[in-house]
Amino acid sequence: MIARLESLKKQFFQEIAQVREPGELSSLRDRYLGRKSGAITALIRELGTLPAAERREFGQGANELKQLIESRLDEAREQLERQTESARLAAERLDVTLPGIPARMGHRHPITLLLDRLQTIFVSMGYSLEDGPEIETNFFNFDALNIPEGHPARDQQDTFYISIELALRTQTSTVQIRTMQRRKPPLRIIAPGKVFRRDTPDPTHNPMFFQLEGLAVDRHLAMSHLKGTIQTFVNRMFGPKVVTRFRPSYFPFVEPGGEVDFSCISCDGQGCRVCKGSGWIELGGCGMVHPHVLEVVGIDPNQFSGFAFGLGVDRMAALMYGLDDIRLLYENDLRFLSQFPL
Ligand code: FA5
Repeated sequence: MIARLESLKKQFFQEIAQVREPGELSSLRDRYLGRKSGAITALIRELGTLPAAERREFGQGANELKQLIESRLDEAREQLERQTESARLAAERLDVTLPGIPARMGHRHPITLLLDRLQTIFVSMGYSLEDGPEIETNFFNFDALNIPEGHPARDQQDTFYISIELALRTQTSTVQIRTMQRRKPPLRIIAPGKVFRRDTPDPTHNPMFFQLEGLAVDRHLAMSHLKGTIQTFVNRMFGPKVVTRFRPSYFPFVEPGGEVDFSCISCDGQGCRVCKGSGWIELGGCGMVHPHVLEVVGIDPNQFSGFAFGLGVDRMAALMYGLDDIRLLYENDLRFLSQFPL
């Protein structure tokens, strides 16, 4: 019997030396210690059939072998687990001393940079910010602004219509009406935003561009206030030497209406490529709010008067950043966009 125990022990040690995986280890355990068919279990069952003299010695030997096998199996399992863990750690090894991948900083769009600057100047002059929808009804885009049916600005060529009643706004002057309907004078507001026109793109035209509207309504406002406001703005924006000039022009919602130019900042008004030799650069449209427009929004034109202006932001950006084509602003070319200061 003792010889059987010895040969079982030898066999077990040979087999465990071959084990490479945890699965093999558990089938080895079954083969030796399994309750039904384990070799050691079977030997222990045989104990009862032995003569009493042999039973004690054999029983002790069988139990010792059982414990030896159990502890060897446990050791082997721990060893396998340690090996698996070290293999995993080796595979996941990180070199924490390597430099990181730098995150690329985004840039603000040149139009956003310019709008921020314009807003800062006007807010410092007592203007507050207003906003309005980009999809507008004919009432706000045309009727209330004194643009009757049949006026060229209503022509399909200029306007992106969505339905008979709705269109993409063609000017930020819509916000004049919305503000005056909501707020009572005195008021001083600016309204920057996108506008849309069916213009063929070229170096100075885009079908989508930005305007900045200004509106002031109060008692006794006159053309001189408008001129002073624009002059102050131009000096803060472009410098103390820059002068302005006003030319008569027609916009149905202002009377009198005009266009304002400022002396070229590239050549101090001497004439150069930027101002096409004229010495002047166009800033936008302006004028005194038409009495009829005030009436439409319920403001008495005998008590109040107002002035308004609308500036083209894209062309101003072209001038400030030395661009010879405003279409560059919307091509989303990162090589272009990343050149502007944050
Ligand atoms: C107007 O839109 C008037 N609402 C401005 C105004 C406001 C007048 C208040 C009186 C009182 P105008 O159509 O001229 O005016 O456009 C104003 C500015 O927008 C122009 O001076 C020009 O700088 C810019 N602009 C016009 N069309 C385009 C275009 N397709 N692409 C880029 N800029 C444009």
